[in-house]
Amino acid sequence: MKKNRFDVSLVTGASSGIGRSLSIELSKKSSLVYLIGRNKKELLLTEEMMTGPSEVVVADLSTQAGLSKVRKLIKNQHIDLLVNNAGFGSGGYFHERKIEKEMSLINTNVSAVVELTHSYINESISSQQKGAVLNVGSVVSFFPRPSNTTYAASKAFIRSFTDSLNRKYKDHGILVSCLYPGLTFTNFFENPDSLRKHTILGQEPEHVAKVAIKGLNKNKRVIIPGLKNKIIIFLGKYLYKYF
Ligand SMILES: NC(=O)c1ccc[n+]([C@@H]2O[C@H](COP(=O)([O-])OP(=O)(O)OC[C@H]3O[C@@H](n4cnc5c(N)ncnc54)[C@H](OP(=O)(O)O)[C@@H]3O)[C@@H](O)[C@H]2O)c1
Repeated sequence: MKKNRFDVSLVTGASSGIGRSLSIELSKKSSLVYLIGRNKKELLLTEEMMTGPSEVVVADLSTQAGLSKVRKLIKNQHIDLLVNNAGFGSGGYFHERKIEKEMSLINTNVSAVVELTHSYINESISSQQKGAVLNVGSVVSFFPRPSNTTYAASKAFIRSFTDSLNRKYKDHGILVSCLYPGLTFTNFFENPDSLRKHTILGQEPEHVAKVAIKGLNKNKRVIIPGLKNKIIIFLGKYLYKYF
């Protein structure tokens, strides 16, 4: 039987939200999904929701110890798809935020993505294997957000990083794509259920994950789930100064 293109994948931030939904979606057609996160209980819950085999790996990606653990995995196992999804936000004005939290955000949303992608691309090139990386950006990758400064900047980095890598490594058979979700009802927000009741702009993580996998299968470099988010990106580029 022909092997699925994303037969073995590794998903960071698989204990909740978009990462959990991506893991469930991938497991429908794969032989193994590595589930990465800090919360073992929630990772095991993701595992229960999946239809295919998985392996839980507890790692804090804001630390060198956590990163080394995942980098070793990337080096020693053949992985068809690396999903850099783990991340968190930074609500509030920059001067009011604790610097430790901002640095931890950069470690998780930026440094971890760079380190894991570097390991993955090197491994793919040296083993002459094709592969794919899906980075999770955000609609805010496209415009600054004064009330969310470091987070928006971290996602702008992910956008530029992904675009450059894709240009360089597609000729090596390595697809590097970015998913740009808009408001998605997950634990990214304090109370996703109340948000769900009060806004029509949001999407469910299951839907976002389906769009992402469909986009990857079509080799899309830019994956924006839904027209609403395309409009937000378009308007945001011009109107961000007024918010
Ligand atoms: N929800 C939205 O509206 C939205 C919009 C645009 C983009 N995004 C992006 O989508 C991605 C997933 O977020 P989500 O909405 O699904 O939020 P979520 O439900 O809060 O999930 C975040 C995931 O990241 C993991 N994570 C956070 N810090 C980590 C660390 N130091 N080490 C390892 N894992 C860590 C969490 O796992 P543990 O707690 O187990 O470590 C969790 O599984 C993020 O990159 C986020 O920026 C979200």
